[in-house]
Amino acid sequence: MTDPTTTPRSFSASAPLTGRIAIPGDKSISHRSLMLSALAVGTSRVTGLLEGHDVLATAAAMRAMGASIERRADGEWVIDGVGVGGLLQPRDALDMGNSGTSTRLLMGLVASHPITATFLGDASLSGRPMGRVIDPLGQMGADITASPGGRLPLMVRGLAPAIPLAYRLPVASAQVKSAVLLAGLNTPGITEVIEPVPTRDHSERMLRGFGADLTVETAANGTRHIRIVGEAELKPQTIVVPGDPSSAAFFIIAALLVPGSDVTITNVGLNPTRAGLIDVLRQMGGDIEAIDPRDVGGEPVADLRVRHSALTGIAVDPAVAPSMIDEFPILFVAAALAQGRTTTSGLDELRVKESDRLAVMATGLKAIGARVTETEDGLIIDGTGGDPLPGGATVAGHLDHRICMSFAVAGLVTGSPVTIDDMAPVATSFPNFETLLGELQS
Ligand code: S3P
Repeated sequence: MTDPTTTPRSFSASAPLTGRIAIPGDKSISHRSLMLSALAVGTSRVTGLLEGHDVLATAAAMRAMGASIERRADGEWVIDGVGVGGLLQPRDALDMGNSGTSTRLLMGLVASHPITATFLGDASLSGRPMGRVIDPLGQMGADITASPGGRLPLMVRGLAPAIPLAYRLPVASAQVKSAVLLAGLNTPGITEVIEPVPTRDHSERMLRGFGADLTVETAANGTRHIRIVGEAELKPQTIVVPGDPSSAAFFIIAALLVPGSDVTITNVGLNPTRAGLIDVLRQMGGDIEAIDPRDVGGEPVADLRVRHSALTGIAVDPAVAPSMIDEFPILFVAAALAQGRTTTSGLDELRVKESDRLAVMATGLKAIGARVTETEDGLIIDGTGGDPLPGGATVAGHLDHRICMSFAVAGLVTGSPVTIDDMAPVATSFPNFETLLGELQS
């Protein structure tokens, strides 16, 4: 019998995808716009906010800590902040659902406020490592009691005033960087994050935009020194959230793979710390044209016109990994249809995302007939040269939105349909994914 709480779906060989779509707002920028608005003194307005479950978990948590956050009928979000230092003790545990970003960034905020908060999450989030933020936030004085292995549920007892820290990131993670910078917001003195490998810089851009005194110095070897002056006063802002390149990725690759496709995706964020996938796909022979490059809310944006292309396998440079860390599941699908071999390496971080994305993608791709070898830190994929994959299997999504959407796209280029056991997790980041796919197919 089918479990009534899950939403299985099948995807099968598709007619050409054509037309123009707008994808939802950027998840990373949406989280940060709510958090910083909630810490500003006065009223901020946000349009284009991603209304996925992850971002709604952040909104609920900021409300529980005192901010007023309302969605108007026209889709604009209006936020009245409490001021840095003004977060209130939440009455109940904060339910983070599936969202690692909410958890790690909010742990940073709580760490330097005189409040205590308990963080809970779903089965996927409860298996993910939090030691990477517990360590620096503990050094700043927060008292954190976690479940075995440094996992959720956990409790953060903040310290105010907290102790400023200079912290060298041991792992390339924007979430860890942001947790420390956000803790630094309410910490006297200068908090510094030393980042040997650059990761997405939305926190730095937005903290500056809200008026925080934040500087970035890049050393000759590329290491970034990010310093924030604490006890900041944030000024309310009007924010327009650009479209999420990580969501666009599914339709970029669907258009490249489905013969005859010609798709335009409007308003795609192209921050260089996020745009690695586009470079890699162009190296593979993908026809992706950026139209009308412009600036939206302090972030570079363009419309992307994508046409079906014959792709060729490449060795993906591990140095690009941080700039496309969420796009590897769908890149693996593109590689499975390319001519020749694609090799990837340096992707250990994929094992601690919403699922172990190396293992889960390797298993699912093999189940639908792709030739894949899993290594310790990557996948090696021998593509079909454009021929459809066999398909005809059910794939487990493991509560991981990006796995579900990757196999949905794979199903569009298979001989027999691909079934995903549960598409419900897609609502965490891309609630209208299937609607937009339907629009491009009609
Ligand atoms: C995010 C950073 C990335 C990414 C996640 C969102 C962010 O995680 O995978 O989806 O908004 O800062 P890491 O920083 O842990 O790599």
